[in-house]
Amino acid sequence: MLMRSTTAEAAAPVVPGRFPLLGHLPQLAVRRVDFLQSVRARGEIVRIFLGNRPVFVLNSPAAVHDVLVTQSRKFGKGLLFDVARPFIGNGIITSEREVHRRQRRALQPAFHRDGIAACVGTMTGIAEEQVAAWRPGEVIAMDLVMRRMMTGMLVATLFSTERPDGAVGVAELGERVAEHLTTVMRGVFVGTVLPAPIASSPVLGHRTYLSAAAALRELADTSVRQARQDPADRGDLLSVMFAGTPGNPRGMTDTEARDELLSLLMAGAETTSTTLSWALHELGRRPEITERIRAECAALPAGALPSAATLPYTDRFLREVLRLHQPNWLLMRRASEPVRVRGVELPRGAELIYSAVTMHRDPAYFPDPLRFDPDRWLRRTEKDLPPGAYVPFALGNRKCIGDHFAMTEMLVVLRSIVSRWRPRPVAGRRIRPVVQALIRPNALPMRVSPWPAR
Ligand code: HEM
Repeated sequence: MLMRSTTAEAAAPVVPGRFPLLGHLPQLAVRRVDFLQSVRARGEIVRIFLGNRPVFVLNSPAAVHDVLVTQSRKFGKGLLFDVARPFIGNGIITSEREVHRRQRRALQPAFHRDGIAACVGTMTGIAEEQVAAWRPGEVIAMDLVMRRMMTGMLVATLFSTERPDGAVGVAELGERVAEHLTTVMRGVFVGTVLPAPIASSPVLGHRTYLSAAAALRELADTSVRQARQDPADRGDLLSVMFAGTPGNPRGMTDTEARDELLSLLMAGAETTSTTLSWALHELGRRPEITERIRAECAALPAGALPSAATLPYTDRFLREVLRLHQPNWLLMRRASEPVRVRGVELPRGAELIYSAVTMHRDPAYFPDPLRFDPDRWLRRTEKDLPPGAYVPFALGNRKCIGDHFAMTEMLVVLRSIVSRWRPRPVAGRRIRPVVQALIRPNALPMRVSPWPAR
């Protein structure tokens, strides 16, 4: 339970254990989620120090909701995104204020429900081609396969000019992009939790991060150049970007479009593949859930689109995966003016951290929080929770633009896998969470067996 306090000073207590010069950086860099989990009991908003820089940690749904929604206009994205900008440019995930509003308006049409529905065929084709190539009894490195598949799917559905032919082509392109992405994300993480002189040292691979970012930029540039040469409206994301809007009648420049591609790759590839890896890990441990999902998918009428309405149990299962295995453990905001949050005065420039992972493990809202239980969402639906308690896709003006797209992709992939295969753990292999930019499994070898004939 959180301790509530009344005075402003007491409302943001400093977490004990601060080191001279480094502040709480060692705890954050070493203990990561465990450290953020440990500070929850100290108050609704607490202060830690990254070096000499104070950072406020938001621990209650009300504080998270206030910052992300009610007073969102007073916040920008903060340190994490300052670090990301030199790697990926100033696309929708890093930009601020008016530029962000314009970019969000321009990209929104690509994420309308009809547009997503139109991608289901391509998504299904990619998942089916890759899953059909597995052999009975084969051990699949699910984390790597998911990473390849989801990066390929994003490239193929959003940026259709880049679509190579066939499963192998998609998987290869997915792999190339995914490898660079993983490296860049690690660089952003290192740059956020370590002081700049240490983070930019060659020993920590700074040059590797920069060259992965350059390679990714080159791939995105090529994609934009190809699309520019073909003026037809292909109905994909690049066509949406080139089309004029009332606020920007000439559409995006090549550099702007390139930066948006990088933003979307950064936001939309590893998030879905990591979530799917955790989903498969849970299925491996719980054959009864796999059976239920298989039965639900088998009953889906031909032509019906996978959604929360048509696959309610599978959707609940994914919501529980996103609760317990939320990949985004560290997100940040920065106050762009002095602001009062839950009685705490935050100065202009104050950095804030919120962690969906620790929020999702609060026993006040999720009884027995470490238990994986999709049916908890029947007993207490999302609407019954206080706003801010369950935030897998964040909230407010910076909420994930790809939330429905991601849920659709994940339903499609689960349906393809579970309809054909029973994924099972490999004996003797312990799966551990690795906490870097996202929380992913250290490895995920799984043996796939066909279902017995009915
Ligand atoms: C399971 C999958 C996903 C999860 C858990 C997830 C989660 C999130 C979260 C928490 C944010 C807010 C970040 C913040 O507060 O700083 C976000 C933003 C964003 N996401 Fe996702 N996301 C997922 C998939 C996707 C996909 C598939 C796409 C695109 C195809 C996407 C595109 C974006 C974009 C563009 C933003 C920035 C929005 C803005 O600032 O206006 N995401 N996502």
